[in-house]
Amino acid sequence: MPEISSQELLQDLDGWQRSHGCGELTSANLDLEVCLMGWVQFRRDHGGLIFIDLRDRQGLTQVVFSPDHNAEAHEQAHVLRPEYVLAVRGTVRRRPEGMENHKLTTGEIEVVVYDWKLLNNSRTPPFPIEDGIDTGENLRLQYRYLDVRRREMTQNLLVRDRAAQSARRFLEREGFLEVETPVLTKSTPEGARDFLVPSRVHQGSFYALPQSPQLFKQLLMFGGLDKYYQIVRCFRDEDLRADRQPEFTQIDMEMAFVDEEQVMDVSERMISQLLGETLGFEPTTPFTRMTYDEAIARYGVDRPDTRFGLLLQNVTDIVENSGFNLFANAELVKALRVPQGGELTRKEIDDYTEWVKDFGATGLAWIKVRSDEWQSPIAKFLSEEEKQGLTERLGLEAGDIVFFQAASSDVVNDSLGNLRVWLGHRFGLIPEGEYSFTWITDFPLLEWNPEDKRWQACHHPFTAPRGEDRDRLESAPETVRARAYDLVLNGTEIGGGSIRIHRRDTQMAMFQALGMDPEDAKAKFGFLAEAMDYGAPPHGGIAFGFDRIVMILTGSGSIRDVIPFPKTQKGTCLMTGAPTGVCRDQLREAGIRLREKAKQDTEEDGNPKPHG
Ligand code: AMO
Repeated sequence: MPEISSQELLQDLDGWQRSHGCGELTSANLDLEVCLMGWVQFRRDHGGLIFIDLRDRQGLTQVVFSPDHNAEAHEQAHVLRPEYVLAVRGTVRRRPEGMENHKLTTGEIEVVVYDWKLLNNSRTPPFPIEDGIDTGENLRLQYRYLDVRRREMTQNLLVRDRAAQSARRFLEREGFLEVETPVLTKSTPEGARDFLVPSRVHQGSFYALPQSPQLFKQLLMFGGLDKYYQIVRCFRDEDLRADRQPEFTQIDMEMAFVDEEQVMDVSERMISQLLGETLGFEPTTPFTRMTYDEAIARYGVDRPDTRFGLLLQNVTDIVENSGFNLFANAELVKALRVPQGGELTRKEIDDYTEWVKDFGATGLAWIKVRSDEWQSPIAKFLSEEEKQGLTERLGLEAGDIVFFQAASSDVVNDSLGNLRVWLGHRFGLIPEGEYSFTWITDFPLLEWNPEDKRWQACHHPFTAPRGEDRDRLESAPETVRARAYDLVLNGTEIGGGSIRIHRRDTQMAMFQALGMDPEDAKAKFGFLAEAMDYGAPPHGGIAFGFDRIVMILTGSGSIRDVIPFPKTQKGTCLMTGAPTGVCRDQLREAGIRLREKAKQDTEEDGNPKPHG
């Protein structure tokens, strides 16, 4: 018999309708006539029968083509290959004894086909549509639509959906209104660069994509809407990391007539429900709280992973008169003791030493405590008294390793704080399946930007100073604390918010502290200051990084695994090729002329050229 090609078999749906999903049928459905549609996961020819695992987003169902049921259908089924799309009509029957697959919901049954249609064929996919593949991420991103067919990716998107629905349900019930805010807007500073959109009508003027709806949600409070929420896309042109994307989603909230306690309370209840409805358990509330100073002192970072110990210890006082100049001259010296960590190899220590350079450190000092001596390149520089002091302060025991960092306080905290997490993983100290929430409070309002030589807002310029600190905005800005709070989960900042300034004089004082002259402040934020003159109520809010939450809920190692169409670390979309050059006509209409370098990236014929 001549071989039939899949092309000849292609058909339309012609009125066929799915009766069930591929993850649905069980032995409760025996003898039922069903119609399933999906993709071929796998084909096995066995004992004259053809078995297909048919897949959709729900799961897999085994379908069987038997010459006894429909000889022609069986014969034609030989064309089927992975990722072909088919519709089958058949009858549910129990799998023969011993052939069950207890890992599948549908594992006790199979569907015996009496009729089927080939809806589409497929080229061989560039990677297997399976879990746990070691395909490079770039290929997965290029063929994202194939990647999301894989169960682990589908699952992530299902969890994402459940989490969003849960947050929506909660907020609706609490009386929050979902309000949309503009995407083409004026720059709203959140500490990153803006993405700009040129205006065709007003050539030379630009919209900015919102870094968050911050000002709009405040203005909605001025507008009397009282409780606002939005699950909203935000855009930030910043360096990308495993938990950062240039466009990401926030669960954004704002409330009028509240203080910190009410915002934190509603947040805790929302997050608890969200965990309950996605993971099946609710965390203990209220969440623990820690001041910013305490977090930095003990963990080195303001997003402490509180699932394990390994706390940093300040030893500056012990070594401040040391003969070891590095220690004696440093602004801050901190130690990180790893009990029984002496097994670390020289290679590992060298790797850590290289790695902390990313945080501005020039090196990393260490000692291994042996029963009779300290094995360390720096031991010879330390006096007996210093050794004694360190032993007591750190509680040293034979078998320990201690890392030291001596530098400016920022470098010391940042490098040891990040090394701590690394070591936590290395020594298996981080418990699986634990969700450890911590509120960080009492942030400083301002931080010094040494490059620009000016104060900048730690959170954003609309965060209120603590009442008792407000008068020091001008005289001692570094001592002013903010009415801000961040929520940290397992070492990731999942949310941040604050009580806002609602009076014009305070807002103007804040702009002044940030080095903005009144004209500049008026040009940038005049509309906000003016609005404060018309009865702005006290208000506050918070925004949660929705992608980060889903990343933790799904145990994903990268934020990209929970975003359907993410950007690479370089901000590109490998599927569409964005960002690309644009045609000369488009540029002309927007009133834009490219500089030479950028021009080379656009092809001479004016067609967009993908950037690699
Ligand atoms: P903030 O800038 O702290 O606050 O952002 C809130 C939360 O959003 C998440 N997040 C990100 N997630 C992925 N990729 C990014 N590039 C990214 N940047 C931030 C974090 C963060 O905690 N308007 C204020 C909120 C407020 O004051 O109410 C704001 O946007 O999880």
